[in-house]
Amino acid sequence: MKKLITAILFLLPVSVFAAGGGTTYPNEPANIDLTDKTSLQNGAKLYVNYCLGCHSMEYVRYSRIAQDLELTEEQTVNNLILGDRQFGDTMDKSMNGELAKKWFGVDPLDLSLVARVRGEDWVYNYLRSFYVDPSRPFGVNNTVFPEVGMPHVLADLQGLQAKSDALLSVEEQIAEAKAVLNDSEASDQAIAEAEEKQHKAEAEMAKLAAEGQMFVQIKEGQMTAEEYDENIRDLTAFMAYTANPVKLESKRMGVWVLMFLFVLLILAYFLKKEFWKDVH
Ligand code: HEC
Repeated sequence: MKKLITAILFLLPVSVFAAGGGTTYPNEPANIDLTDKTSLQNGAKLYVNYCLGCHSMEYVRYSRIAQDLELTEEQTVNNLILGDRQFGDTMDKSMNGELAKKWFGVDPLDLSLVARVRGEDWVYNYLRSFYVDPSRPFGVNNTVFPEVGMPHVLADLQGLQAKSDALLSVEEQIAEAKAVLNDSEASDQAIAEAEEKQHKAEAEMAKLAAEGQMFVQIKEGQMTAEEYDENIRDLTAFMAYTANPVKLESKRMGVWVLMFLFVLLILAYFLKKEFWKDVH
């Protein structure tokens, strides 16, 4: 419990920051489907293979995943449990936190709740927005999470992409406009012009994002863009499930709650009759 509270406190400023950060691009809806068990199973498999090395899910047990995602113990052991973990264990990461700090500058977060903190759409777009940037330690940056400390661990699936010329030009216009807006000596007219320029450039940015024109593919991966997006949708769905496992159950539970209330109503009715019997 203490750990949970610490984690929530730790995540709190992140969410405040995320909420105040304005729109990031791309910003497509993730469109996940939590009732699609195959999608969640694929997401779990991707998570274990590509993320669990660095990111634990401390509040999630393999056995619980098996139950919720309709996997047998054998399927779970064969597909999801790496190393010497047991069926009843929580999903601990393999990497030691101290070492991670040395390598990445930060100890990668536990991701049990990330889809709730950041939002599903944020996670979906983040995982699709790594682009080549030689100035960064791992050679990649991210438009959704600028200056990110995480390497592009899915590069073999997605391949590599770079910012398109159109995007670079829009970013330049935004930067130019911002420079004027931050200049305390700028005239009123210059400020008005800069505001309009910024407005236009931001509209153009939204358009590029909507049309999928922000990036150009510079190296092919094992998957096509559609396949990659589909898999990222599954991975996001899995993280949305771990962030709120009760969602899967809430419908089933709702029916029981209604039945319970109905039984209670009947009991209450007979109880009332019993009480009033002597009064009349
Ligand atoms: C090699 C280690 C490593 C692997 C593997 C890895 N990550 Fe990360 N990840 C990081 C680091 C380091 C950060 C922190 C980035 C920062 O704060 O700059 C991070 C940050 C994140 C964040 C942002 C968390 C937040 O809210 O700040 C998400 C989401 C994320 N990773 C998801 C994933 C997913 C999904 C996978 C698997 C596809 C994955 N990561 C694999 C190292 C890793």
